[in-house]
Amino acid sequence: MTLIGQPLDRTDGVLKVTGEARYAAEFPEARLAHAVMVTSTIARGTIASIDASRAQALPGVLLVMTWLNAPKLPQGGKAGFNPPAGRYLSLLQDNQVHYSNEPVAVVVADTLEHATDAARQLRITYQSQPATLDFHAEKANAHAPDNPQGRQTDTRRGDYDAGLRDGPVRIDAVYTTPMEHHNPMEPHATMAVWDGPQLTLYDSTQGVSGAKNAVAKTLGIAPDRVRVISPFIGGGFGGKGSSWSHVTLAAMAAKQTGRPVRLALERPQMFGPVGGRPCTEQHFVLAAKHDGTLTAMRHDSFSNTSLIEDWTETCCMVTRMSYAVPNQITTHRIVPLNVGTPTFMRAPGETTGSFALESAMDELAAELKMDPLQLRLKNYAEVDPQENKPWSSKALRECYRVGAERFGWSRRTPAPRSMRSGNTLIGLGMATATYPANRSEAAALARILPDGTALVASGTQDIGTGTYTVMTQVAADALGFAPENIRFALGDSTLPPAPGSGGSRSAASVSPAVRDAATQVRDKLIALALADSASPLYGTNVADVTVQNGWVTSRKEPSKRDPAAAILARAGGQPIEAQASAKSGDERQRYSFHSFGAVFAEVHVDADFNTIRVAKITAVYGVGRLLNQKTARSQLMGGLVWGIGAALEEESQLDPRYGRFTNMNLAEYHVPVNADVQALDVVVLDEVDPYISSLGVKGIGEIGITGVPAAIANAVYHATGVRVRDLPITLDKVMAGHSPRTTA
Ligand code: MOS
Repeated sequence: MTLIGQPLDRTDGVLKVTGEARYAAEFPEARLAHAVMVTSTIARGTIASIDASRAQALPGVLLVMTWLNAPKLPQGGKAGFNPPAGRYLSLLQDNQVHYSNEPVAVVVADTLEHATDAARQLRITYQSQPATLDFHAEKANAHAPDNPQGRQTDTRRGDYDAGLRDGPVRIDAVYTTPMEHHNPMEPHATMAVWDGPQLTLYDSTQGVSGAKNAVAKTLGIAPDRVRVISPFIGGGFGGKGSSWSHVTLAAMAAKQTGRPVRLALERPQMFGPVGGRPCTEQHFVLAAKHDGTLTAMRHDSFSNTSLIEDWTETCCMVTRMSYAVPNQITTHRIVPLNVGTPTFMRAPGETTGSFALESAMDELAAELKMDPLQLRLKNYAEVDPQENKPWSSKALRECYRVGAERFGWSRRTPAPRSMRSGNTLIGLGMATATYPANRSEAAALARILPDGTALVASGTQDIGTGTYTVMTQVAADALGFAPENIRFALGDSTLPPAPGSGGSRSAASVSPAVRDAATQVRDKLIALALADSASPLYGTNVADVTVQNGWVTSRKEPSKRDPAAAILARAGGQPIEAQASAKSGDERQRYSFHSFGAVFAEVHVDADFNTIRVAKITAVYGVGRLLNQKTARSQLMGGLVWGIGAALEEESQLDPRYGRFTNMNLAEYHVPVNADVQALDVVVLDEVDPYISSLGVKGIGEIGITGVPAAIANAVYHATGVRVRDLPITLDKVMAGHSPRTTA
């Protein structure tokens, strides 16, 4: 495998930097009409009246669609409702309002300006009811979700009470994380085009097949009448992992107007109608012997959901598998509020859960007067302690070792506030990173064209991660073609189906299918040459030939070779093709599949102002084989950057009176900028996972954010002596010495 892992430049890079890459809202359509979504201004109640007369009278206005005139959908719009990915949507089927910023109307006009103006002229009055917005008060009414994300709601192993008795050193603390909203550069956008009974959707989605099925079911039409096209996505991060209301609304508006309709969300509409990370409150109890051996662990996690659908931030997943603690209880409870339904947001559950777990471990290390890294090693899980299965691969011990060495962990003096340079308090902290190594069934096709190039395709997506590039590498490697002679196609629901690009699964799922399809068509090409009396390779033993740079070539006499174009020309000039589908076997029953990493953070805190800077992060990962060193590294760095944001900046601030977020823009919803990101040192170990797939790819999309908030929180504690258990760690919390809601 010569090309696998090479740091190839992105094959779509030039298209992107020259503006040629076409995103969902950018497809040229004759007679295109522009839609603007109007959203509710109250958090709970009913629409009392709608006066559309002024809006409708404005120039260019084609449609004002509200619950009074929207087409009636099967099951009141709930036909596609199948959580977590089939959403309970807001499709103008009734006059109910469940959260502020919920879609209540769609205005369509000939230009975006006319539509925007008309949308502002729509007069809607409401009958408001008191909204449920106080998470902490509502915790008393929390309920247990039903198998969140297909996993157990609660777990119990060993004898927790006995474990508590055996562990005299205790930590009992509550950690909280705020609501957050995905803000990829490209907000959600859909173009809906009807051609008779056929619907084409240009959509910014992490799953073309999922979007097709969700929209078809919701509209009550056969799935083969819907085609979803999504060649480029300006970031998704889980927010585009399911189809939200605007997608079906665009299709409805296009049907009503008889025109192609474009509906692009405005930045403030990213806060509510299209998911986000719920807030969490996580109660941890740890008990250990004086030598650091964990004897008991309890993790009770609460997160908010909406009043229309159950969604669970699965914070306890990471707790169940991280350490070899014999006695453990974990629980998930959810708290319905009048907010939009939360959703997958980069490492959903692991980001928030690892903040709490890895902060608690740091607190325990301090209590034990033990090095935090030593405490992790002391309780290293040699097998998955919850599933009781061996790991498919686990390089965490090596991650700790390499990370500690590169970072200079040994320079850390244990006492808080003990490292200082002038007026700068220096803190060093670490945490474990982990994320499941998921894999789902995927299919691909490979076609050698008469000109000697190849088209390789799968109905997967490139959400900015590099799928085009890495799948080109996999195909080139299997075919024996140069990468520049391969075109990889994706983002079209008419291609062989692949899973949604979520759960860090695309590379692991799609690469084996691409490799199988490419290998099969390569074998067909070889067979054609060997059977052709006009080929220099006629009659050569199949074991003695290979394909190099597009030429079928004799291994023994490399001068004997035959280019693909000539082979196909002599065979009649038709393309040859193979399709393959690949999925896991029973190894999923026998092994536990996870990626691991170690994150080390150095923070600098101003002794007077308490401003926090992350001076350096060293992160070392065991994530199986990399398909491309460059795109992989970029993606892991992106995870670290988001981890800095989660630790120090990100928070959607909910107005407790009106249920509206007060910072629905990128000026006030803070994400890291260059000044917030200093040295990032990312290392990926050469890890061989013999079980995940023939390529050994474990996935890298989400592990990069995990562990980072805790590593930074632990570093802030080490710098200042202040333990902030509430994200984001802002300077006021450090200044106040923080006020933990400890329940001990
Ligand atoms: Mo990821 S949050 O599963 O797109």
